[in-house]
Amino acid sequence: STLKDAFQKKFLIGTALNAPQIMGRDSATMQVVKTHFNSIVAENIMKSGMLQPREGDFRFDLADQFVEFGEENNMRIHGHTLVWHSQAPRWFFTDEEGNEVSPELLTERMRKHIYTVVERYKGRVHSWDVVNEAILDDGNYRNSKFYQILGKDFIKLAFQFAHEADPDAELYYNDFSMSQPGKREGVVKMVKELQEQGIQIDGIGMQGHISLEHPEIEEFEKSIQAFSELGVQVMVTELDLSVLPSPWNRDAGANISDNVDYQNKMNPYPDGLPDSVEEAFDDRYLEFFKLFIKYEDEISRVTLWGVNDSNSWKNGWPIRGRTDYPLLFDRENKAKPIVEKLIRVANQ
Ligand code: G3I
Repeated sequence: STLKDAFQKKFLIGTALNAPQIMGRDSATMQVVKTHFNSIVAENIMKSGMLQPREGDFRFDLADQFVEFGEENNMRIHGHTLVWHSQAPRWFFTDEEGNEVSPELLTERMRKHIYTVVERYKGRVHSWDVVNEAILDDGNYRNSKFYQILGKDFIKLAFQFAHEADPDAELYYNDFSMSQPGKREGVVKMVKELQEQGIQIDGIGMQGHISLEHPEIEEFEKSIQAFSELGVQVMVTELDLSVLPSPWNRDAGANISDNVDYQNKMNPYPDGLPDSVEEAFDDRYLEFFKLFIKYEDEISRVTLWGVNDSNSWKNGWPIRGRTDYPLLFDRENKAKPIVEKLIRVANQ
């Protein structure tokens, strides 16, 4: 029994791939991908700085291989991400004289980037994170370069261009901390505005970078409800579960370097997770998956942010050397006990 079979009637089960896997340097991980997952997303290689490091210089080799792998294995292929303030190349916001781009030039660059990328994979990449992380936890717009130069219209433009480039692609907004009431309200308001302007938006991706303590599952549920009431699909994206103390625990220190609790726990489990932590880990994943199953009519995909613990971004973040255990497969690509438990819950 596999994850994708167990959840087949409920939602897609996705995972994120990186360059080493896509380039065929990690066949053990790719075997797990083929066995357990029916949807893929590129963790990094389809971001704008990777696809167009210099103006007009598009690099599609890895993205092509990623899409081919998905097609060969009959997977739902999701594109991440067209417009994101982070990892956007610096040239995007600078004109030939080295000054900040005009709104017109930035719009033109967005159009060209989105058209070129989305048209290349038309009919092959099923859906796109068109805009990523544009709203703050308090519901205000993030003061990114896109926002500074174009105001909130950059969101509308991005969705328009993506729709023009592939009218059949599903278009999503994706963000983290979606359980925060302020962010929930901000996202609802933004999506309503897009809908009122006749802009196509098909779904909302709720990033699932969770820990043993955060977020409160009730708040996550409220956001699933609020988003599905907009008439769009809900996706759980970027799911991983950190077992380490959160660096953002403000009670423990004003910032990371002051946070002794956090600093002392770079690698608290060198021999693997103790039973008590593993139990908490399993319970936390089960709690969330039970919630996803409760909303299986609203949720169309649940995507893990990586396959095994060794390829998780959580290991190096935000301080190099941190060792975390956030995914469903261990560093040897062995299924953790949680996999069997999830399959059981899905089949209940
Ligand atoms: O590819 C280069 C490599 O050539 C170089 O030697 C190495 C040295 O640091 O860096 C490599 O690039 C890294 C890249 O991941 C690929 O491993 C970048 O430094 C690193 O910053 C980048 O981190 C990614 C991060 O987004 C970038 O902001 C993480 O892997 C990725 O998990 C993370 O994903 C984001 C989502 O896209 C959006 N939501 C939040 C999520 C977590 O931050």
